[in-house]
Amino acid sequence: MSTLFLATFLFIFSASNPLTTADIHINKCRSYCGNITIDYPFAIQQGCGHPGFRDLLFCVNDFLMFHISSGSYRVLEIDYAYQSLTLHDAHMSTCDNMVLGGKGNGFAVEQWRAPYFNPTADNVFMLIGCSAKSPLFQGFPGQHLPCRNVSGMGCEDYYQCPSWRLVGRKRTAPMYGSGPPECCAVAFESIKMINLTKLECEGYASAYSLAPLKIDGPSEWSYGIRVKYSVQGGDQFCRACEATGGTCGFGTDGVRQLCMCGSVNSTSNCDSVGSSSSRISWPLSQISAGFFVLLSIWMTINHG
Ligand SMILES: *[C@@H]1O[C@H](CO)[C@@H](O)[C@H](O)[C@H]1NC(C)=O
Ligand SMILES: *[C@@H]1O[C@H](CO)[C@@H](O)[C@H](O)[C@H]1NC(C)=O
Ligand SMILES: *[C@@H]1O[C@H](CO)[C@@H](O)[C@H](O)[C@H]1NC(C)=O
Ligand SMILES: *[C@@H]1O[C@H](CO)[C@@H](O)[C@H](O)[C@H]1NC(C)=O
Repeated sequence: MSTLFLATFLFIFSASNPLTTADIHINKCRSYCGNITIDYPFAIQQGCGHPGFRDLLFCVNDFLMFHISSGSYRVLEIDYAYQSLTLHDAHMSTCDNMVLGGKGNGFAVEQWRAPYFNPTADNVFMLIGCSAKSPLFQGFPGQHLPCRNVSGMGCEDYYQCPSWRLVGRKRTAPMYGSGPPECCAVAFESIKMINLTKLECEGYASAYSLAPLKIDGPSEWSYGIRVKYSVQGGDQFCRACEATGGTCGFGTDGVRQLCMCGSVNSTSNCDSVGSSSSRISWPLSQISAGFFVLLSIWMTINHG
């Protein structure tokens, strides 16, 4: 008799397992690229994540690539706690290397995507070799130039870098007597779009500081583009979806959010989908499964 009870118990336990794993919440949209975790609102699978982040990330040979209208960048890090990501542009200048010829991406996103991404306020863009006719210098020398230090980083310090010697450029003191400076540092906020073609610049460097770290000099700066992301409309939809065991995604229209609940998609959360997959009915299905097991074992014993 005890064997029968044990068998019954084991059967009920294993029969209820698929349901409990659904409850534990296996997120089929979460993934990795190299050592970077890709999670909501980002995704690399079609239909996963938030619609504002669609067609954005691609995993190529374990390199996570971020693709926007100004070009492709390698993602160095995604910081989910601070909602920011760090990008690297292969044609960006650093303290050791100067890339001229207008090849750099700069930073510009599609208009519909603009509310989702903004380089952080402590990220400095140092525009190099911009033409005197550049929109940056409109009104020069009468009006103030937009060039300034950002978060303690600016061109005065950047001129000390070996990269300037490498290209044989003379460091230009910020004396606006004869012409615009060779380098102009700006925050993204002040010009909204870093487009080297439009700004008539030959190159750029981008650096960020992770406050409150005090940084010694330009060779110690972190070179890259630090971008803040924000989920427009908030993440209430996804939280409610995940709290009911679902995975957040969106429909083929690329606009409407969906909650993927196993084999069914819901427009709200998994508690609202058919009663067969609702959590309230799970204990009931387990009880009835157990009942039928007992019944069939009883019948086998009695008729076998
Ligand atoms: C990923 O690996 C690279 C080197 O391969 C390392 O520099 C970086 O810190 C790692 N990132 C994370 C988030 O572990
Ligand atoms: C649910 O939505 C995802 C993402 O759009 C899609 O890939 C999947 O086929 C949908 N499933 C159903 C059952 O409609
Ligand atoms: C950059 O500016 C040029 C010239 O104004 C324009 O043709 C190009 O589309 C712009 N690029 C982006 C990504 O906006
Ligand atoms: C920027 O910082 C440098 C070095 O810290 C300083 O010499 C310079 O005066 C600052 N420039 C402006 C415009 O504040």
